[in-house]
Amino acid sequence: MKLQAPRGTRDLLGTTARTYLAVEKAFAELAPLYGFEPIRTPMFEPTGTFKRSLGDSTDIVNKEMYTFEDRGGTSLTLRPEGTAPVVRAMVSNGLTREVPLKYFYMGSMFRFERPQKGRYREFFQLGAEALGPRDPIADAEVMALGHHLIQKLGLKDQVTLELNTLGDKESRELYKSQLVTYFSKVKNQLSEDSQRRLDTNPLRILDSKDEKDQKFLAGAPQFGEFMNSASESYFAQVQEGLSHFGVPFQINSRLVRGLDYYCDTVWEFTTQALGAQNAVLSGGRYDGLMENLGGPSLPGVGFGGGIDRMVLLLGESTKAETPVAVVAMSGEARSVAIETLGYLRQAGVSAQMYFSGNPAKQLKKAHKKNCWGALLIGEEELQTQTFTLKTFACGTQITIAKNDLLIHMKQRKKKEDFHG
Ligand code: HAM
Repeated sequence: MKLQAPRGTRDLLGTTARTYLAVEKAFAELAPLYGFEPIRTPMFEPTGTFKRSLGDSTDIVNKEMYTFEDRGGTSLTLRPEGTAPVVRAMVSNGLTREVPLKYFYMGSMFRFERPQKGRYREFFQLGAEALGPRDPIADAEVMALGHHLIQKLGLKDQVTLELNTLGDKESRELYKSQLVTYFSKVKNQLSEDSQRRLDTNPLRILDSKDEKDQKFLAGAPQFGEFMNSASESYFAQVQEGLSHFGVPFQINSRLVRGLDYYCDTVWEFTTQALGAQNAVLSGGRYDGLMENLGGPSLPGVGFGGGIDRMVLLLGESTKAETPVAVVAMSGEARSVAIETLGYLRQAGVSAQMYFSGNPAKQLKKAHKKNCWGALLIGEEELQTQTFTLKTFACGTQITIAKNDLLIHMKQRKKKEDFHG
């Protein structure tokens, strides 16, 4: 049988692989501006890291985790998300007194979902988590980082920030009981998922895309009526913070997230361009999570962004590197050619040598492999301490002195940057 990447996973190649890197680079540059430090946690965790944090009733814990026993009999799970591992790491490493703790990460996550465009079983997330005093400006700040990334990637016009609050526990419990009363009256007419959620997590019914549920959603009680004044004021300050940071948003009072650890602020940066998989970057506040993982009660807020979805939105926009080829025209010139190749790379110039075949074949290959030109070194060049520089686009050949090599290479780079 021919071996292939498993269902829901992909080999990322060419422009696509380059665009992933470009997104990761943009995030790695931005997150430190907001005070976030890098963190890497293991790709798999004790299963408890997720079972104790994401919620028993969530799809992730119920249906989507890659859980297995290792050869020592320990139950492990490939991480389906990054927040619980980061919080677990804070507790494991005894960092919980050094607040605020602000970390950013990037890497693969794993969920056993039905694959479709923008939804994979191995997918790539970038994320930021801020743990420390509960403050609405901390919520606004992480959203500002998400917004800044989207802006930096040039996706601002395709993406909208949708914002909601789940209120504090008191408000949320009251609201949940109102929802249960309301939906129980029509229980038999609800979708199967929503019937189950009525017992496990009634808030998620509001998020249902199922047609059967739609007609009951409009008449459902509104959270605004049950929110206490502390929750209301917190949410108002989050919105004020966003305005100060210059982050536009829309309130979506039906936005609830698929993980149980959230309280108060929740948000999603959504797009119309990816069909059903419309969330590009989403997150919220999770004040009880650390306690569930055996740590102190340290509030937190953060987001996870889908790199795959950002790459889909970006399309084929990254350029491949265009090197200069170095070609030895004779056996004697080979060692100088290799030295030159090393020298150019050390000086930050992209250079390639195609080792096999005669010079004509090497030039052909260089042309095919996206080189912009070639430095030819033969008998004459060796004697006169020069190079012949051939530019493929115009076919010109000029002689350059060895000492002027870098000047010529940098001039070319400038031209390239200018013309794109
Ligand atoms: P999440 O909404 O489950 O939240 O995932 C965050 C983002 O990851 C989504 O908005 C989406 O872009 C992307 N994503 C999720 N599942 C897939 C998939 N199967 N294929 C491709 N992309 C996917 C979390 O994971 C939370 N940990 C976010 C967070 C951090 N909340 C607070 N801090």
